[in-house]
Amino acid sequence: MVTVRAPATSANLGSGFDVFGAALSKPADVVRIEPAEETTIEMYGAGSEYIPEDPEKNVAGAVAKALDAPAEIRIDKGVRPSSGLGSSAASAAAVAVAIDEAYGLGHSREELVPYAAEGEALVSGEAHADNVAPSIMGGFTIATPEGVTQVDASIPLVVCLPELVISTRDARRVVPRSAEVSQVVDCVGRAATLVAGMFRDDPALVGQGMEDGIVTPARAELIDGYDGVREAALEAGATGVTVSGAGPAIIAACEDERRKGIASAMLDRFAERGIETRAYQTEVGRGAELF
Ligand code: HSE
Repeated sequence: MVTVRAPATSANLGSGFDVFGAALSKPADVVRIEPAEETTIEMYGAGSEYIPEDPEKNVAGAVAKALDAPAEIRIDKGVRPSSGLGSSAASAAAVAVAIDEAYGLGHSREELVPYAAEGEALVSGEAHADNVAPSIMGGFTIATPEGVTQVDASIPLVVCLPELVISTRDARRVVPRSAEVSQVVDCVGRAATLVAGMFRDDPALVGQGMEDGIVTPARAELIDGYDGVREAALEAGATGVTVSGAGPAIIAACEDERRKGIASAMLDRFAERGIETRAYQTEVGRGAELF
């Protein structure tokens, strides 16, 4: 029996749509697997009642198939589905790392990323790696068709998860098909600033880089109360605020001592609208861990 904990992640980080991702120190999924003749899946934990256990319809089944390694798989969800926190990616990442260990396949963490991305393809229609890469490798990741560049960053974060459901497929439909050159110039500058901030462990630069005028405004409209929550987080000292992944989670970067105040300001704004919400005081953290 192999047990792996794989973290939630936040993709995009504003200016890095489908490219940037960060592992979060919490929450996380825990997966236990045993090699078997054929793949079976049992689901427990947050939102597991909405996830099919049929291996043909479950990300874990897709990863086991991609690695040609059938297994009995038990998944304890700490990351609820349709959250914007890489729920399916956390399960896919954990299964990829666990199967590699159980079968002694000897893949590097980077080599496991495309296998785990097969799970993503099953749920979102595209095998993008911006959630699975940080969940497997940890830290901040830049995922491109050429591969993954990983940085061991340390940035305090607050993630707020309202009880709203937005499917990744729906959130991808609202992404603009084109942008003005001036918007692209702004986005490149911000993306570069964010990368510099990750290398320097500088929350101010990371926050500047999290602003984005192309994808985020369209997606923010899908999240009831987004503008008010963003404003409250900035007033409480966040250096930058954006939609986490496809939403509805909202992520803020900040200095360590500001996390508590930002979390409570964001929770208050959602509460004013009668929306139940969880807040995680978290940070850029480690990737999948074997137990
Ligand atoms: N980059 C993806 C998106 C992540 O924002 O649609 C969601 O899984």
